[in-house]
Parts: sequence; C-alpha cells; structure tokens
Amino acid sequence: MNCLYAKILDDLYYIGANDRQTTLFENMWPLPEGVSYNAYLIRDEKTALLDTVRINKVDGFVNKVLEVLDGRKLDYLVIHHMEPDHSGCITDILKLFPDLIFVGNKKTKSMLYDFLELTPDDDKFIEVKDGDVLDLGKRQLQFVMTPMVHWPESMVSYEPNDKVLFSQDIFGGFGTVDGAIFDDQADYNIFRSETRRYYSNIVGKYSMMAVKAIEKVKQLDINIICPVHGFVWRENPQTIIDDYEKWANYEVEDGVVIVYGSMYGNTEGMADHLATFLAKEGVKNIKVFDVSKTHASYILNEIWKYKGLILGSATYDNSVYPNMYNLLNVLKYNKIKNHVLGIFGSYGWSGGAVKDLKAFAETGKFDVLETVVEARGTMHKEEEEQLRLLAKEMAEKLKEK
Ligand code: FEO
Repeated sequence: MNCLYAKILDDLYYIGANDRQTTLFENMWPLPEGVSYNAYLIRDEKTALLDTVRINKVDGFVNKVLEVLDGRKLDYLVIHHMEPDHSGCITDILKLFPDLIFVGNKKTKSMLYDFLELTPDDDKFIEVKDGDVLDLGKRQLQFVMTPMVHWPESMVSYEPNDKVLFSQDIFGGFGTVDGAIFDDQADYNIFRSETRRYYSNIVGKYSMMAVKAIEKVKQLDINIICPVHGFVWRENPQTIIDDYEKWANYEVEDGVVIVYGSMYGNTEGMADHLATFLAKEGVKNIKVFDVSKTHASYILNEIWKYKGLILGSATYDNSVYPNMYNLLNVLKYNKIKNHVLGIFGSYGWSGGAVKDLKAFAETGKFDVLETVVEARGTMHKEEEEQLRLLAKEMAEKLKEK
C-alpha cells in the first residue's frame, strides 16, 4: 500500500507516500533515489487535511486518511499548491467527503477548475489572503502567500501554538523517506545533494521569489517544518532554512565545474588538461562532466554549488555541440549568476563552438576569464600553455573574496 504514517504531535499526523516507480519527476528529472509526497492531517474540533499526494499513490493514501480520521468526517482540505504531485487525490477525497470545504487562495480556486474541473460553490471554498487565519479549535492555521515558489498559487501555513510551518515545496527535496521521516532519525548529509538538485532544477529559476518567501517565513518562530517532499524537520529546522537561503541567494563555494562536449576526445583531452592544471594551482574541488553522458540536472546541481564554471565544446556543423547547446539553455533558463566563467573548445574545420560559447557568456551575469582557448582539431603545445593560463586565472579568481 506504500503509505507512510507518523504522529508528529498530538492530533497532528504525517501521511505521505514514497514513489520509487516514477523514473522522471515532471517527466524530466531523473529520480534514482525516488521522491516522497507528504501530506498532513490535523484532528481538532474541526479536521483538516493539508494537501494530498500524486494519483499513483491514491489507494494507500485514501486508506490512511480514513484510518487517521477514525470515523470522523473531513471538514477542510487545505490546498497549499496545485501541482499534481500534491493535488492528484483531491477528487478522490472529495468523493469520500462531499461536504468538505476547500481552503485556498484566489488562484487556487481557478486552478481547481483548470486542472480538475471542480467548481466549488462559494460556501464550499474559503478564499484566504496573506495573514488570514483558519480556526480549527485548539489549533489555527495562518496563511502566508509565497507566489512562484513553486507556482503562482503556492502558499504556506503556520500553526502558532506548536510553531509548525507547513511549507509545501519550499524546504523539500528529492529522495524517498526511507524509514526516517524526521530529520533527527537520519543523516541529512546523505540527502543534501538530492535536496539541492531538487532546489536547483525545480525551484531555482524562481530564486528571487524564493528569497522573498524565505524572508517572510523567517519572521515566524518555527519549531517544526512540514514540507511536501522529504523530511519533517523537528530537531534542527534551521539547517534546511540555511541551505535554502544559501541556494536562493546563489551563494557558492570554492571549486570548479568543467563541462565538455566532445565527439572523438579532442575537447575531452583539453578538459582533462584543464582539471590537472587547476589541481596544480591548488583548486581542491574539481568536477568534470561529459555533457553527453550526465543528465543536465546533475550538472546544474554542481554548478549551483561551485563558483567556477568552465565550458568546453567541439564544433559541430559550424556551431556549439548540440548537447552543450541544451545545457546552455538550461543555464540561461535558470538565470545562473555569481560564477566565474571560462571558455575553451575545438575549431574543427570551420569554428563556431567557441564563438557560440562567447555569445552565451554575454547573455548572463558572469565574470568571464580573459583567456579563451580554441584548438584547431586536437590540442597542440600552444593551446596546452593557454589552458595552463586559463586554469591560473580561474584559481586566482577563486581566491578573491
Ligand atoms: Fe512538489 Fe511544485 O510540486
């Protein structure tokens, strides 16, 4: 049945599902370690379900909702976010509890029709704005709008008595919850990279809005964070707040990511030489990726982490190598900034790759290194020395604070 269950506090329950079957999140992003969809249920004078899970987990989820309700009816279904990984079971829940009242904002209401063809009457939908409160009895939910993190209708809610933040996508990550539902039950370092890959690929393009959302929630006194993916943070919620704040502000660490596109090894050879020269210059964190082999989501994840980025490309039909072209689009789309950028490539018989990489460099907010290396065909002694110079320039830039 694959439905997870845990008591967080008296009458506050985690009910979520691990998804190890779906191979691509949003049908794009590989999920080798799966993903969890988290929902929460409050039993008070009124009962409230906070979000649902993706439809492929409906059976176990519905059973768990019924089990936790223990014969009571569901009064409210709070919708923090309408993306189908969380709204997927709304229709099934409504069939079970036709008298339930939806709680969402104005955009949520229109999306209920857009995505699920639901048109609740005014007395079946409580429309909330920033600061509005839903009274459940002993507990209340205060609503905070967090538009574009991740969708325009995205919002979070805060329970002030127990200081619990229901944060929807914010503070979430890839990876199933394997036995450990709470942060104190596992080593977050095992999950940190998958959490950053989730942030950089799913939320990263909206980082400006994420900064605003984090500023808003930081005003709250938080004991527990309940996101819709990944751990419930009850021991050290500040850890995930700090990580998200760092990623949203494009704060980077010392290190260099080299990404190359190469058909027959000439450009790859230049990348390997560069990595060696960087190591000789004392750069400790060096990651080299073949753009044709590693999925862009992993490359973006490492680029999000490290300050240095060096792109190398073979020329393919007078242009940058097609798989590198795809990566450039990913970087443009995600508005990558605060990076030192180096460029190298192979001219082939016509040139084009380096020209395209230079044009890309002009589209973003990069600190572009002066030395650009272009080999005609394979690398010769002259280009080797230029690569040494490029590595030196990068190492010096990393030392600047
Ligand atoms: Fe996890 Fe934007 O949905």
